[in-house]
Amino acid sequence: MWGAATRRYPTAGRRHERNGMRIGILGTGEMGRALAAAWAKAGHSVFFGSRSPARAVELAASTGHGARGGSVSDAAAFGDCIVLAVPWQAVESTLENCGTLAGKVLIDCTNPIDQESGELVELGTDSGSRQIAAWAVDATLVKTLNTIPASLLTAGISSSQEERPTVFLCGDDDSAATIVSQLIEDLGCTPVPTGGLDDAKHLEHLGALLVKLGRSYGADVDIALRLLRRPTRPEE
Ligand SMILES: NC(=O)c1ccc[n+]([C@@H]2O[C@H](COP(=O)([O-])OP(=O)(O)OC[C@H]3O[C@@H](n4cnc5c(N)ncnc54)[C@H](OP(=O)(O)O)[C@@H]3O)[C@@H](O)[C@H]2O)c1
Repeated sequence: MWGAATRRYPTAGRRHERNGMRIGILGTGEMGRALAAAWAKAGHSVFFGSRSPARAVELAASTGHGARGGSVSDAAAFGDCIVLAVPWQAVESTLENCGTLAGKVLIDCTNPIDQESGELVELGTDSGSRQIAAWAVDATLVKTLNTIPASLLTAGISSSQEERPTVFLCGDDDSAATIVSQLIEDLGCTPVPTGGLDDAKHLEHLGALLVKLGRSYGADVDIALRLLRRPTRPEE
């Protein structure tokens, strides 16, 4: 499987291990754990970064597949792709602890919401991603994965093409979008690039809607999106 995967990743300037990507995951919560487990299983090298490096090391051992753990700055230094999997309120301080992110793809899966109300927080920018781009000026930002629940990734996604969830992504760098699209496929989802980072505001509104729906359905139900695309005039 990974022979094929290696061909699909742009290789220039990026390090590969075990034929996959090097991924630093910032945050050891629900989303960080779900993404790390799925990508490690798919052959990528993952490194958990935590405020508690000891917790990250323990989590890495239980994740297996060669996963590693340490501090936030260790994970940021390790990864070619870095995933921000912390609550919105912790994003700025987490980025401050990263050190330089020059040359790295920063995957923003955050929903900038108030955790009590679930509503989008007031921002001085049109999206949380725009604010993150201003905080992490050296990184190449891709907004994605904010509309797929961690619980669904953990439960496992059906291999049936008809049931694959759609995962939207947006960003201003085509090469980074290609890398992230492949990582989304490796989760068993269908990547749908929407455009540049200007679209992040739309994805964040969609994320807030799904958080609201998820809360109303309760913990026993997983929800995800699937984009239907059909020809307007079916061929005769
Ligand atoms: N859960 C989902 O289904 C889901 C889906 C899509 C997007 N997201 C987004 O993914 C991000 C993470 O969500 P999550 O559900 O994984 O959250 P979570 O379970 O609460 O975990 C967040 C992790 O962030 C780290 N963290 C760093 N600073 C923190 C602080 N000040 N307060 C709390 N945690 C802090 C913690 O890891 P350490 O203690 O190891 O540092 C914590 O385990 C959020 O922005 C969320 O909107 C979540």
